[in-house]
Amino acid sequence: MRIAMIGSGYVGLVSGACLADFGHQVTCIDKDAQKISALRAGEIPIFEPGLDQLVVSNVQADRLSFSTELAEPVAAADVVFIAVGTPSRRGDGHADLSYVHAAAREIAQSIKGFTVIVTKSTVPVGTGDEVERIIREENPEADFAVVSNPEFLREGAAIEDFKHPDRIVIGIEDERAREVMTEVYRPLYLNQAPLLFTSRRTSELIKYAANAFLAMKITFINEMADLCENVNANVQDVARGIGLDKRIGPKFLNAGPGYGGSCFPKDTLALVKTAQDYGAPTRLIETTVAINDQRKRAMARKAVLAAGGDIRGKTIGVLGLTFKPNTDDMRDAPSIAIIQGLQDAGATVRAFDPEGMKHARGLINDVVYTSDPYDCAEGVDALVIVTEWNAFRALDFTRLKSIMKAPILIDLRNIYRQEEIARYGFSYTAVGRPGEEVRLSEILDAAQ
Ligand code: UDX
Repeated sequence: MRIAMIGSGYVGLVSGACLADFGHQVTCIDKDAQKISALRAGEIPIFEPGLDQLVVSNVQADRLSFSTELAEPVAAADVVFIAVGTPSRRGDGHADLSYVHAAAREIAQSIKGFTVIVTKSTVPVGTGDEVERIIREENPEADFAVVSNPEFLREGAAIEDFKHPDRIVIGIEDERAREVMTEVYRPLYLNQAPLLFTSRRTSELIKYAANAFLAMKITFINEMADLCENVNANVQDVARGIGLDKRIGPKFLNAGPGYGGSCFPKDTLALVKTAQDYGAPTRLIETTVAINDQRKRAMARKAVLAAGGDIRGKTIGVLGLTFKPNTDDMRDAPSIAIIQGLQDAGATVRAFDPEGMKHARGLINDVVYTSDPYDCAEGVDALVIVTEWNAFRALDFTRLKSIMKAPILIDLRNIYRQEEIARYGFSYTAVGRPGEEVRLSEILDAAQ
């Protein structure tokens, strides 16, 4: 199959490279000429494990190419994917569809022969109808079918997710598209990944419903963590205890500082808006959004308390800035609100992240960016783990204790056990595991 991928951002690039790896002939297109020339030179503009090798090997095999112009690749294509951004619209939280509509307009001019146009971008219900209307308006002669095919890729694991999906959701209104899309995903289909064909609107909604459900699951366990702290129970055991029930499942039950990233915050908000517009408000999701927003600031207060209650003039080290590990993405990262909270409480913040500091510098001001976890911990009154990078999972606590002003660790990702680090004389605060905390007073008593 010949495929044109409009938009070479995160989703477009990963999908394009994976589809080329399946044996299709793929052109990834982007208006950003700098990005395209970098890609042609084998430079990958995003951090995603394995993506550079995948791009290079498929370029070498002549299955993957890059272009700033869509006319030729679209004319030659059997399938055109729209994978452009759908950011939150300033002011009202609706998804901004201007890039999708503009892409549809441009595609319409170049279609030749029967072409399947696929929206890969996360788009609100009814967008496929609008894309179809635009193309018909621009080019009444065009022979095409518009399909919805949402992605369920996690950053940091996107290639694995693309190649081993739990399911592939395809929303069609024109039966001719079923055959074409089955061919596109043939290698996965042969590997028994279920292809779920639905109506186009249903498929569009599935994407939002999936993200909203996962966001709700995280928020649920975060609330349980707060409750655990007040009733002296352990949230990790609660998660295990409920997760073993197959109806609930064990995943996405890690309590932490709240969800962030490019998808959950934006998509939950967009779903809330769509639901309100259509007169069927999703109150569970409205509440989820509100709780998650508040949680980020609450984590700063938690850190302040753990650091003794008054951090004016003190220095706090923050380990991990990205919204999760294995990405350089800072979008809606909890670290932003947490650092703001620490600064508002009067602290100076030192920070380290293995991949996120380039983007963080433009987003979070007045932070001392450091070169590694130990540089970050130098002279600090407390150390807060905000993102669970592997590099933070085996810290040398003897070394940390010798360089920190006070041995206080606030572990917002529950990556340590109290018994592991208690012997180094650290005060330890986790999320939803109150029994394991060693209070500052106990440390000071022990020191006397
Ligand atoms: C998510 C969806 O998983 C993916 O299917 C969709 O296509 C895009 O959005 P992503 O944003 O890359 O992917 O990250 P994900 O791994 O889902 O994590 C999202 C946020 O939730 C992160 O901030 C993460 O730290 C947080 N999280 C996740 C928790 O706090 N606890 C958990 O148990 C799981």
